[in-house]
Amino acid sequence: MQFSNHMDEIQLSKIRQIGELAGQMAKEGRSVIKLQVGEPDFDTPQHIIDAAIASLNRKETHYAHNRGTMECRKAISDKLWRDNGIKADPEKNILVLNGCAEALQCATLGILDPGEEMIIIEPTFINYIQLAKMAQCTPVIVRAREENGWLPDVEDIEKAITSRTRILLLNSPTNPTGAVYPRELLEQIAQLCVKHNLIVVSDEVYEKLIYGDAKHVSIASIPGMEDRTITINGLSKAYAMTGWRLGYVAADENLVLPMLKVHQYSTTCLPVFVQAGAAEALNNGEADVEAMRREYQRRRDMLAKLLLECEDLSLRVPDGTFYMYPNISKLGIDSHSFVFRLLEETGVATTYGTAFDQKGEGNIRISFANSEENLREGAARILQFIAKVR
Ligand SMILES: Cc1ncc(COP(=O)(O)O)c(C=O)c1O
Repeated sequence: MQFSNHMDEIQLSKIRQIGELAGQMAKEGRSVIKLQVGEPDFDTPQHIIDAAIASLNRKETHYAHNRGTMECRKAISDKLWRDNGIKADPEKNILVLNGCAEALQCATLGILDPGEEMIIIEPTFINYIQLAKMAQCTPVIVRAREENGWLPDVEDIEKAITSRTRILLLNSPTNPTGAVYPRELLEQIAQLCVKHNLIVVSDEVYEKLIYGDAKHVSIASIPGMEDRTITINGLSKAYAMTGWRLGYVAADENLVLPMLKVHQYSTTCLPVFVQAGAAEALNNGEADVEAMRREYQRRRDMLAKLLLECEDLSLRVPDGTFYMYPNISKLGIDSHSFVFRLLEETGVATTYGTAFDQKGEGNIRISFANSEENLREGAARILQFIAKVR
């Protein structure tokens, strides 16, 4: 039987494999600590759930507008202006989509033509490369280096640009490194995009999970970028709403139209009650987000302190997200073997860095979206394991 040839190029998620193995071990009665998942351990705040239930009780059970309910688009528009300095007309510039995952798919399938190139900064969220390939495009990799705080060099980005480059994909705060792009860097990148006529897809899903003095800047708010940026955001991480599947794009109306086509002919619309919950979250959820952010910051500080006690490991304490990306290369063991041995021998699940950075060996990703108790126990087991393999 014949299948789509270009799907042969697409890889299944490497991270899933670790989760499945960890799940299997837990079923067998082993003590497993899951520090590989990129998902808040908090539940969605009750007032958001109540808003969705109220919508269902109003029998709002029909198809919604393809672009999203006006209530939800309006809440997104207000948020973008309040938090990001982005002007987005709810009628023309916003699409409510099935998570940032669908937003990314709409941006790549909607904007790229086969044979074009999309620049991706590694270490990277794993979806981007596969999405470029689904759009029959070439993902062009620029590596951000650890010694540079995991930020990319603008010169490296410029060197990667060719006549076929259409999109530069940015993700700040960054999964998996936790790096937050400062304004000056974004201004330099903006100049480059104007010079080379590139579209920026800016994935800002970790925007609210930011610590210390770091500040989130949306590249769409930098002069010259408003018409060439697709801002992607969603409620999964900051509001503990992963299962609600609510993400969105904000962009110039000319960019929105092709993305709307992808959405219309794939998922069509989001449930109205999900959008009612999302509007409540965006309009009245700031205190909940701040409480969770503080807790992540506390856990970050605690975990970093524990890990930094180990001389065999180095760590840049992340400014954002809920991930740490320590370097284990001093141990002389590759990150893939480290992660699988760590899981099998101690029950602690993490993710190997080569899943995010094909050429970058030596790091593992640890999620601190977990309880203090689990993080303390996880760190103790990691340090015992390091002492054993040293
Ligand atoms: C950088 C990044 N973008 C997008 C997503 C997908 O988010 P959503 O749940 O909104 O689809 C994730 C999820 O891990 C992510 O890490």
